[in-house]
Amino acid sequence: MKIAVVGGGYVGLVTGTCLAGIGHTVTIIEIDPEKVRAINTGKTPIFEPGLEDLLKKNASVRLHAEPGYGAVAGADIVFICVGTPPAADGSADLSFIRSAGMSIGNALKGTEPYCAVVTKSTVPPGTTENVVQPLVLKASGKTLQSIGFVMNPEFLREGRAVEDFMHPDRIVIGSSDRKAGDIVAAAYQPLAAPVIRTGIAAAEMIKYTSNAFLATKISFSNEIGNICKRLGIDVYEVMKGVGLDPRIGPLFLNAGAGFGGSCFPKDVAALTALAKERGEEPLLLAAALAINERQPHRMVALLEEKIGPVSGKRIAVLGLAFKDNTDDIRDSRAIPVIRELLEKGAGIVAFDPMASENMRRIFPEIEYFPSAAGALTGADGCLVMTEWPEFSSLDREFDLMAHKVIIEGRRILSCKEKEGICW
Ligand SMILES: NC(=O)c1ccc[n+]([C@@H]2O[C@H](COP(=O)([O-])OP(=O)(O)OC[C@H]3O[C@@H](n4cnc5c(N)ncnc54)[C@H](O)[C@@H]3O)[C@@H](O)[C@H]2O)c1
Repeated sequence: MKIAVVGGGYVGLVTGTCLAGIGHTVTIIEIDPEKVRAINTGKTPIFEPGLEDLLKKNASVRLHAEPGYGAVAGADIVFICVGTPPAADGSADLSFIRSAGMSIGNALKGTEPYCAVVTKSTVPPGTTENVVQPLVLKASGKTLQSIGFVMNPEFLREGRAVEDFMHPDRIVIGSSDRKAGDIVAAAYQPLAAPVIRTGIAAAEMIKYTSNAFLATKISFSNEIGNICKRLGIDVYEVMKGVGLDPRIGPLFLNAGAGFGGSCFPKDVAALTALAKERGEEPLLLAAALAINERQPHRMVALLEEKIGPVSGKRIAVLGLAFKDNTDDIRDSRAIPVIRELLEKGAGIVAFDPMASENMRRIFPEIEYFPSAAGALTGADGCLVMTEWPEFSSLDREFDLMAHKVIIEGRRILSCKEKEGICW
């Protein structure tokens, strides 16, 4: 099939590259010229395991990037993968969606073949039918006879995105028009994954509900972890026993510094805002967010319990990415920790295997080291914020600290002298 992917960020680039990888001819439409250049030369603007190899194989063969919308005309499917960041009140900012919808409509003006316009971005229920569809139809001057609208949420996890795209546990296709949904299902056919067909708004809600449930599972584990800490019980032993119950499951029970990233915090906030707008008070979602906001401050509080006021002290922060295997720092739990430490007058030294350059844009004033040993040398305390697997082998490096006070926000270290945020 001929496929246009609008937005070449994490989701758009992975989607476009993987769709080319399974045989489609893909054009990624991206407004950032740097990203367009990088993609066309086979370089990924983001770090994602396996992505660069797949991109190199397909770039300029079945995949290329462009700043303009020309490829939309003649495409069988157009995937919208632009960002839906949080507005000031927590609701989803749909300005990128609106602008993409308008540009797609303009590009479809006067074209002949049937085309499926697919929202892949995470959007509040109703967005595809009430925002995307009218914009595209108005700008193109067409009717539902020649353009079909679909919601196909993306469930990939950063750090494992290619693997997740190629081996999805399910593909959700929400459409009001059978024909449009069938085209999208056919595009995914080589993946041989279970396909769930729903209405459009239900598909939009599936994505929000999945993220809200996973975020709540983490906050629940953190709450139990905080109680366990008071009781002197290891929450990881507890959750091992709890997670074997198939009604609960073992995943997302890892207590720690809380969830970050570009999805969970913003999606739970957007669902909360949407619920309130419709007159519903979502108590559980509000609690999941509140617990998550509190966890990073507990890291600092525990550090202060051990070393006293942090003013003038040298604090090593290990791990800046919001999770391992990515250079993404969006809403990373390291950010509120570093901000609080700086406000309290601490000197921060940091190390991350991938994400230092991204964090430098937010905190240019802190010192970044190319190794954990460099950051730990002379430190009065250390906070571990990301579960990078390589941190598990750190041991003698901690001997370089001036005072060996090590607090883990993720259960990853194997050295002896450490204390967990909630274990
Ligand atoms: N990152 C994830 O792990 C993930 C997973 C599932 C779903 N999502 C959802 O997917 C959507 C995209 O997320 P992302 O992380 O890829 O965002 P991103 O910010 O990394 O990428 C968005 C890209 O769209 C480009 N863009 C913006 N407006 C454009 C326009 N009018 N035309 C062409 N390009 C345009 C931007 O320059 C950017 O490169 C969001 O709704 C997000 O919630 C993200």
